[in-house]
Amino acid sequence: MNCKWIIAFIFLGLAWFVFQVVQFLGLTKELKIHGIEKCRKINIENPAEDIIAYKNLAIGATSDIINLFLKHNSLPLVTPGYLFAVDPAKNLYYRIKTYNFNTQYAFNPHGITIFNDKLYVLSHSFNKGGERIFVFSLSFTTEIEAEFVKSIEIDQNHGLYNSLIFVDEEQFFLTQWSAFADPPEGRDFSFSSEIKRIWGIFSPSGTVKRCKVDGEKANCQEIMKGYMPNGIEIIGNKMFIAESIEKKVKVYEIKENFDLEFKDEVQLEYSPDNLRAYNGDIYTTGNFRSVDIITLTDALNSNKPLPMIPGIAGRIYLKGTKWVTQNLLTEDILSFPTSCIITNNTFLLTGIIENHILACTLDS
Ligand SMILES: *[C@@H]1O[C@H](CO)[C@@H](O)[C@H](O)[C@H]1NC(C)=O
Repeated sequence: MNCKWIIAFIFLGLAWFVFQVVQFLGLTKELKIHGIEKCRKINIENPAEDIIAYKNLAIGATSDIINLFLKHNSLPLVTPGYLFAVDPAKNLYYRIKTYNFNTQYAFNPHGITIFNDKLYVLSHSFNKGGERIFVFSLSFTTEIEAEFVKSIEIDQNHGLYNSLIFVDEEQFFLTQWSAFADPPEGRDFSFSSEIKRIWGIFSPSGTVKRCKVDGEKANCQEIMKGYMPNGIEIIGNKMFIAESIEKKVKVYEIKENFDLEFKDEVQLEYSPDNLRAYNGDIYTTGNFRSVDIITLTDALNSNKPLPMIPGIAGRIYLKGTKWVTQNLLTEDILSFPTSCIITNNTFLLTGIIENHILACTLDS
């Protein structure tokens, strides 16, 4: 082959790579704020990665995500999380009274889910419990209260898991958002770890696992690989999985033996994080530009002022036979949004940086 052609080929390859990186980071994307006129902030003391609707209210679980995931070796600085409730109709926030919690474990919540009036909280308990699920039985009289039932150990892969969803009392699905488990000191931002994480972005190093509860232990098997499987949700016999790197929500059919069969996927403009079902549709939110996360971790690790990380929230719904999406709002008033729900006709969004949630009144 002629040398000229080889050079042209290499050049094209490089150009393609640069294009992919620019696309992935969102370097050329322009933010157009919309849909936030009817949003207000409700203070929640500490950030919460996930919230869920419960009896016209919202339940959330706070955790010190900055020291857990965004700063170098900061596990010793992590403050414990707790459960809280928000009543959007009254702009009311309170910590949920929690009984009988086993204090030998650290409580650093990530994804949460409710099944049969039990709240399941995925926690990065590190040297005090590993990756673990805390199970609470919920009750409601004048306030929501939570009684600790038991905990379920997944494994010792610190920091690995994002979300879980139960298909029956004994079986659940789990997503692994992080490419590599964190060391016992917390997240490591050394050069070699960063290179490993960047590699993880370009190779499917996340997983979806199917797990069976056996007393206080979960037995999990990997059923699927992905780039960054994140939120997970069920409507009827359909399973939805957010893929944050590909910016997609994928739709699977749940077979009788709980195998998943791929059916459809929806391309989004943003990186979806947690998924929530409401009225037969899926709601999700996530970051508008991936490059903002690099700017954020850099600011946190060099004590610079934190940048605002804008996000988009949207609805995913069935149009004819195809799942499609519609953006509900594009916002720059809640940094790094990760979860959204609808409760009592209010759209609530939570994020991992700020001590408030957004409550947006829905039309109709
Ligand atoms: C739902 O919201 C409406 C109006 O904001 C309020 O009057 C009502 O009490 C709320 N319902 C419940 C069950 O909280």
